Amino acid sequence: MKGIVFTEFLEMVEEKYGLEMVDDIIENTNLQSQGAYTSVGTYAFSEMLQLLQNLSLKTKILVDDLLLIYGEHFFNLLEKNYPSFFSVYHDPIQMLASIEDHIHVEVLKIYPDAELPTFEVVYRKQDTLIMIYKSSRAMHHFGLGLMHKTFEYFNSKATIVLEKIKQDGTEVKFVITKN
Ligand code: HEM
Repeated sequence: MKGIVFTEFLEMVEEKYGLEMVDDIIENTNLQSQGAYTSVGTYAFSEMLQLLQNLSLKTKILVDDLLLIYGEHFFNLLEKNYPSFFSVYHDPIQMLASIEDHIHVEVLKIYPDAELPTFEVVYRKQDTLIMIYKSSRAMHHFGLGLMHKTFEYFNSKATIVLEKIKQDGTEVKFVITKN
């Protein structure tokens, strides 16, 4: 997992809960990196899981809900750092349908060792998009946060229903309907 996912996560934790919480969630873990991340480095996904689980224990917020909040936070960084990825789209459905064939393809050119999910479009109409998310990391709620923000970016609103195909969350169906 890319370092930027860690540095931005710890920044969000500091912003929302203070520096002490950052120290707390790093201290109570057995991290190979010892919690020292650089945005261009690459680290084990298991470290992110440990940080999330510790934060969940301290805040009593479910890991999936933390991932949702983090996805919304991460979108702001994407918007700031990769404006060219956004400028080609005129519509949120069009943008989300292009994650697999455009956006994440470009991401791999910048970060060849990025670990990305797959989003297979199984149905698409003007205002409806159905996609199947697959990833061993089960970060579907991170994706949900990014999707909410994508609609907000285009001054639009949507109902997004998430149905687990596999109980462990490694395969999930997203039914997205523009309101
Ligand atoms: C400018 C647009 C985008 C950029 C630059 C981008 C970039 C990235 C990067 C760098 C990662 C981390 C990879 C790693 O840690 O190795 C990632 C992961 C991820 N991205 Fe994107 N992304 C973009 C848009 C989106 C959108 C719109 C979605 C909407 C669902 C999305 C869904 C995800 C998910 C769910 C992950 C977590 C990894 C996983 O589930 O396996 N991304 N993306």
